[in-house]
Amino acid sequence: MATTLNTGFTAKQRTDIAAGLNKVLADSYALYLKTHGYHWNVRGPNFQALHVLLEGQYTEEWAALDAIAERIRALGELAPQGYAAFGNLSSIKDGDGEKDWEGMVQELLADNETVIATLRAAFPAADEAGDEATADLYTQRLAAHEKHAWMLRSTLGRK
Ligand SMILES: [Fe+2]
Repeated sequence: MATTLNTGFTAKQRTDIAAGLNKVLADSYALYLKTHGYHWNVRGPNFQALHVLLEGQYTEEWAALDAIAERIRALGELAPQGYAAFGNLSSIKDGDGEKDWEGMVQELLADNETVIATLRAAFPAADEAGDEATADLYTQRLAAHEKHAWMLRSTLGRK
């Protein structure tokens, strides 16, 4: 039996917005996984500070994953799940625990910038459809990843 969703969007708007959310979710998940892994494997004289910094970031990122996935469901689409699905959707590669601390921080900085770019690319579909709830979620995620990027840049001694 066909069902209809009466939330003010066309089917095309919902699938277009969900496509952006899928990519945001996959990149966010990949960054979460890498940040948590580097929290475990980071080494060096700044170990304690880096271990705690990365714990704060992966905890914040983890909490956001559920909100992104549940926004996809609220639009009537299915959320991607599983490593293979996320691997196909994400442009962020797995981390490497052999890297030194500086290499890890540089990589996490670049990956936060990738998530920021993905969010900016996804924004117009939500904005043009008048989807304030998704636009609001994107705005919150942009602010969070820009803050993470600032802290990683500062750790590298950069502005
Ligand atoms: Fe831990």
